[in-house]
Amino acid sequence: MPENTTVRLDKLFDHPAVIDAVADENLELKERVAYRPPVCEVFNRTCTTLQTEPQYQFEIDKEARRQLSHIIGNTVQRVAGTDDPDEAVRAGYTKARNIGIVFSGGPAPGGHNVIAGLFDAAKKANPATRVFGFLMGPDGIIDADYMELTAPLVDRYRNVGGFTMIRTGRTKIDNQKKMSLSRETCKRLDLDALVVVGGDDSNTNAAFLAQEMFNDDIQVIGVPKTIDGDIQVRDACGQVLCAMSFGFHTAARAFSQAIANLCTDSSSDVKYWHVCKVMGRVASHLALEVALQTHANMTLVGEDLADYVDYDRLEKAEKDGQVDYTAYGMTLRHLSRVICDAIMDRAAVGKNYGVLVVPEGVLEFINEIQVFIIKLNTIIGNYNKVHDRDFHTAFPALDDKLEYLRRLVRGIRKDVSYNVWNARDDELFNDIPEFFQEGLLTERDSHGNFQFSQVETEKVLLDLVKDYLGILKEKGRYKIGIEEGQYAKIMQTGGLDPEMYGPILFDNWKQARYLMIKKMIISKKTLKAALVKDGFLGEEDAIPAPIEKIYELSVPKFKTQTHFYGYDGRGSDPTRFDCIYTYNLGRTVFSLIANGATGQMAAILNLEQDFHNWRPIGIPIAPLMHLEERKGRLELVLEKSIVDVNAPAFRVVKAFREKWLAASPDGDHYRHPGPIRFTGTSEEDRPITLLLNALGGHMCAPGESGPA
Ligand code: FBP
Repeated sequence: MPENTTVRLDKLFDHPAVIDAVADENLELKERVAYRPPVCEVFNRTCTTLQTEPQYQFEIDKEARRQLSHIIGNTVQRVAGTDDPDEAVRAGYTKARNIGIVFSGGPAPGGHNVIAGLFDAAKKANPATRVFGFLMGPDGIIDADYMELTAPLVDRYRNVGGFTMIRTGRTKIDNQKKMSLSRETCKRLDLDALVVVGGDDSNTNAAFLAQEMFNDDIQVIGVPKTIDGDIQVRDACGQVLCAMSFGFHTAARAFSQAIANLCTDSSSDVKYWHVCKVMGRVASHLALEVALQTHANMTLVGEDLADYVDYDRLEKAEKDGQVDYTAYGMTLRHLSRVICDAIMDRAAVGKNYGVLVVPEGVLEFINEIQVFIIKLNTIIGNYNKVHDRDFHTAFPALDDKLEYLRRLVRGIRKDVSYNVWNARDDELFNDIPEFFQEGLLTERDSHGNFQFSQVETEKVLLDLVKDYLGILKEKGRYKIGIEEGQYAKIMQTGGLDPEMYGPILFDNWKQARYLMIKKMIISKKTLKAALVKDGFLGEEDAIPAPIEKIYELSVPKFKTQTHFYGYDGRGSDPTRFDCIYTYNLGRTVFSLIANGATGQMAAILNLEQDFHNWRPIGIPIAPLMHLEERKGRLELVLEKSIVDVNAPAFRVVKAFREKWLAASPDGDHYRHPGPIRFTGTSEEDRPITLLLNALGGHMCAPGESGPA
């Protein structure tokens, strides 16, 4: 570098471009934190009250009635606004309070705005109110680890992603000791209310805490958070109370942007199948939204696979006077065949590339895997119940775990679960790859959930797909179709008559635009044999170069790139929808607290509609709970909602499945949602599944066919 162009380092640091580059805050962030989301009309009033909404009813589990007696009688409450409250209401609303808030479970974009909404409403009602954040999730409550939230701190995180302000954790308050410690912390802090921002398991925790602290007059309010989108609440008549947890929109949009980019790349260099695993522990809501956002070539939806019925099998069994229960649901092998068919069909029209979206939890919906998960949960649960050391500490290595299972089969270990695992299970289990065995035996999370994010779901599927494609290739069924114009050009350039060789080389000569090399031609040897047999080549002659080239073009290489979309989308800055939604959830939380509610979950009705129609409510948590198997025992939990295959969103995806697979000579049908834009007017302002599902089940008749 010439002397005179060298800039002194201290001068360089003074340059505005350098100052901007090294600053932690960029313009986007400044705009974000300065943004003030609009609030529902009721929150502009002097104060809010709660009105009971008796039209919503629930079917109550008798165990919930027994275990959650103090809050089981709760009803749905609508937040109403008033500018002229009576003195008692005003006094209650504006009293100085201590409120604690905790994040629980995985981060979800928008969490900071729940805090901001609560903080703003609380301080507006009474500036003396104090808001405390428990650190590192529920552990912060148990260990009394907290900090007081101040205006500058809250301001720093407005509209910003993550749960960085107070962080999060997955501890479950699941025994009397933890419950008592939590209660002690809340009492020591003189809390009026505790707010639990979490998923189904965390809201379950919230209900038990509400029950526990009912007589201490400590209110507990839940907030429906999870990118998985599996907290969707309806009453017994199917009326929607909570259509979507917060964070779902942002995560889905972040995944979709990246996956749409892969669609562009893959259709440009036309050599890879991109296999994209997307988060969603069990339910496939995120994958479904990604399908609608991107029109990727193939999207698996776990709930759809579980819904599959093999009618041929049923018919066959019926003839023998039997019922074949294995005909219900899809096996792993069958699923790999379905994927191979799609790959093969695209290859036949020259598209040896594509994008496949696989939901993280898809294996939970596969017959044999589901059985393994349940059996292993029971075995691990039983072991932990009767031993001092937990199963994973006792058997740290995979081999130890497998040996334990083998001993159960041989009856050497007469543990409670020896009859759960039989020789057939052991045989099948030993048949699956080691990494998958390891995945299935991985430690459950604190709530007893199987940790799908730790399992290489896409690898399990891809191994089977690769094997079967190899077989299809050998059978001459998996080939790349050659466009007739390209064929003609190559032949003519090489001085050969395409018309003459066409019938010898192709099965569908003159029948289709993409020509398929004959099934029997699976190697250069078989190609030569075909030419010799029809008298186009002597035994000693070499295959003419143009024909050899055509053959080579028809041989598919199945090259894949795998991707996992999860933590990245979960850490995205929230979309405007999630910013507004969560800020208003925070406001709703305060209204519930200020009006004495407990055991309620904050929610907003009409999310699919224009913002002016959004209606904040409180949903009773206890009536939503039911018994579920966790770690081998039945526990009272909030029900997860999975994809409804009869709802419009899935039916649309199903109807367009073939079109988006695009196994036709026309182009692909990819859709590009673009990046999450915080400003501007063209940003899509809510999840597509939310909009479609709000159209109701009556919009299309059963058995409808796909689009033209
Ligand atoms: P929450 O239900 O707590 O919101 O978490 C959901 C999730 O993001 C899943 O999609 C994923 O399977 C899981 O968390 C990953 O868990 P971890 O953060 O412990 O790896």
